[in-house]
Amino acid sequence: MPADGEQPGTDTARLEEEAALGSGRSFWTAGGVGDVPSVLVTDGPHGLRKQEEGAVDHLGLGGSRPATCLPPAAGLAQSWDPELAQRVGEALGRECQAEGVGVLLGPGINIRRDPRGGRNFEYYSEDPHLSGVLGAAWVRGVQSQGVGTSLKHFAANNHEHDRMRASSDVDERPLREIYLRAFQRVVEDAQPWTVMSAYNRVNGVYASENPWLLTDVLRGEWGFQGAVVSDWGAVNDRVVAVAAGLDLQMPGPDPAGDARVAAAVGSGDLDADALRRSAGKVAELAAKVAAGRRPDATYDADAHHELAREVAARCVVLLKNDGDLLPLAADADVAVIGEFAEQPRYQGGGSSHVNASRLDVPLEELRSRLAGTVAFARGFTTDGSGDVDALRAEAVELGGRSGVAVVFLGLAARQESEGFDREHIDLPADQLEVLRAVVAVQPRTVVVLSHGGVVRLAPVVDLVPALLDGALLGQGGGAALADVLTSAVNPSGKLSETVPQRLQDVPAYLDFPGEFSHARYSEGLFVGHRWYDRREIDVTFPFGHGLSYTTFEVSGLALTASDEGITATVTVVNTGERAGREVVQFYAGLPGSSVTRAVRELKGFASVDLAPGESREVTVLLRREDLAYWNPRVQRWVLEAGEYLVHAGVSSRDLRASGAVSVAGDEVRLPVTAESTLGELMADPELGPQILAGLSRTTQQGAEHGDLGMDMMRMIASIPVSRLAGFGGGGDGASPLAQLLEGATGAES
Ligand code: BGC
Repeated sequence: MPADGEQPGTDTARLEEEAALGSGRSFWTAGGVGDVPSVLVTDGPHGLRKQEEGAVDHLGLGGSRPATCLPPAAGLAQSWDPELAQRVGEALGRECQAEGVGVLLGPGINIRRDPRGGRNFEYYSEDPHLSGVLGAAWVRGVQSQGVGTSLKHFAANNHEHDRMRASSDVDERPLREIYLRAFQRVVEDAQPWTVMSAYNRVNGVYASENPWLLTDVLRGEWGFQGAVVSDWGAVNDRVVAVAAGLDLQMPGPDPAGDARVAAAVGSGDLDADALRRSAGKVAELAAKVAAGRRPDATYDADAHHELAREVAARCVVLLKNDGDLLPLAADADVAVIGEFAEQPRYQGGGSSHVNASRLDVPLEELRSRLAGTVAFARGFTTDGSGDVDALRAEAVELGGRSGVAVVFLGLAARQESEGFDREHIDLPADQLEVLRAVVAVQPRTVVVLSHGGVVRLAPVVDLVPALLDGALLGQGGGAALADVLTSAVNPSGKLSETVPQRLQDVPAYLDFPGEFSHARYSEGLFVGHRWYDRREIDVTFPFGHGLSYTTFEVSGLALTASDEGITATVTVVNTGERAGREVVQFYAGLPGSSVTRAVRELKGFASVDLAPGESREVTVLLRREDLAYWNPRVQRWVLEAGEYLVHAGVSSRDLRASGAVSVAGDEVRLPVTAESTLGELMADPELGPQILAGLSRTTQQGAEHGDLGMDMMRMIASIPVSRLAGFGGGGDGASPLAQLLEGATGAES
């Protein structure tokens, strides 16, 4: 209805304009309606995928302009370094400015629930704390350049199978404590300009049409100020989506949808305020982008390539180094084996695929660094071409006559990508065969791994004395690996995901990726290290693991509790001969907790660079909000009081110092209703003693027992007050207990 004094024609025009702002103007633009400026958005996240007009797609099929390809999330996370993630964000922001991009579509911070997840390479970790800290730093970095980000994919988007229909069915605690926690942290700490709603449904409701997710939680609880953008093609019913809290449907244009939205307001099916909010948020985003725009911006492509190398080197994990086989001696005669040494695998497939501005090749980089002979044998091909036996024989011959073999193994691009999940986590059998054959003639063999998702390393780990994990390292990965192999860089990366012994051990083994459009997250809270530790399952390499060419001692853990959380201080000493960096990880648990919990969970980490012999104190605050669990009864985060056990370690299973500290908790007073159980009422500090007294009197009157034994208490504790009558518990209103209960519950029942 037109407002008082408003012309009807004007009102319709405004409605149409608001509706048009709610969909993209093109595949990659939004805004551009009335006086609202246009915004160019681009994938992301580890580089720009800016496509030319007329050659657009959201699957990474078409071309894009050259850009710096930094390590994808799977690699970057292995740095465990938020400052570095922030610098990466700043560099990406500069490239966005130079290319006129207003919003970079990232970071992706979904939890790597299962190693088979097809997009795990785009996500940071199995752990929400690590994901949240890194994601927030990355967002700060990009946005410091006047460019927006899109925190994705909100939420519970943990597999690719049936991804545009399937429902992720997650219980409330794991949803809050595992799957939403990193999103919450990034929103609260870094206010991304946009959040991208996921393709999937969450507990039956499409993420893009989910008022609980988009409005109650994201805006209401977390205070999100920006615009909610749909994933490309995620919107099922746009009117429902706008009502739920979606602001911008991508891609566009969608004139029919715009008309439907406007008509829905006219017919009263959509609240005019919801449409106004959606249009307002898009207009605000466009204004922010316009204000941040630096039309003359350029970036130094050489400097960004250098950064790509530096970052990549920080992300390499030294998994094993028996007998100090690494680093390679400068004059070593090296047999480099494996196709990946010549044709590196450095990023994943799909919408995040970047047209790298240049590419470092490990073989060439090694040759430029080493004085000895560096000979190469392909060993295998990733596309099945070539004579398998001849390739293997050549590798064996070369390996046997060299001083050391460096074998590059991994997954080919076609084996993992957005759009599908993996069916297993094994390395290709032909690669393992080549490795076995080489090791048989050359025990001094190093394996270098390239892969997005975790691969099973049980068949490799006992074969070779040294193992380097590059995950995916971006365009500077070749130089980075050569730097680490030759000791120009001392490795300091840490795994961001557990390497299980077998697929059958993984938490979601039986429930991944779901069927009939439902994925049941039956492992609950026990994702990643939480699962392996609680079930005491041996793993090949634990979460947080990573060695160095030097050694560190971590000791003297001191803990203090305050209103802010637990402050943990520990001393780290470099006890070896080389300068290096250690990432100290703090895990906390609460033995005897009243709720289901992991044995210990990552709650803080910090890295320290130390010269040989140097020692330094590291202090980290384990924040109160991070120590809290989600209590579904009172619908809020609760810090449970108790004696917390805190460990400082260099992996989730290499705990070097432990201590306990008593923490004052939050008071939880359950609402008292007729549905409250006797046990709940008895736990109430005021009602409890009164009820106990009343109960004793009641049972003394009616029962032969005379006193209220412990067993009796346990038996009746779970009875809701409203049902007590059926148990002769005084529900007739006459007994003193009945009167007490009526008094207690009357007001709220
Ligand atoms: C992906 C998003 C991406 C979008 C645009 C979708 O298929 O899920 O991550 O940002 O396409 O390419």
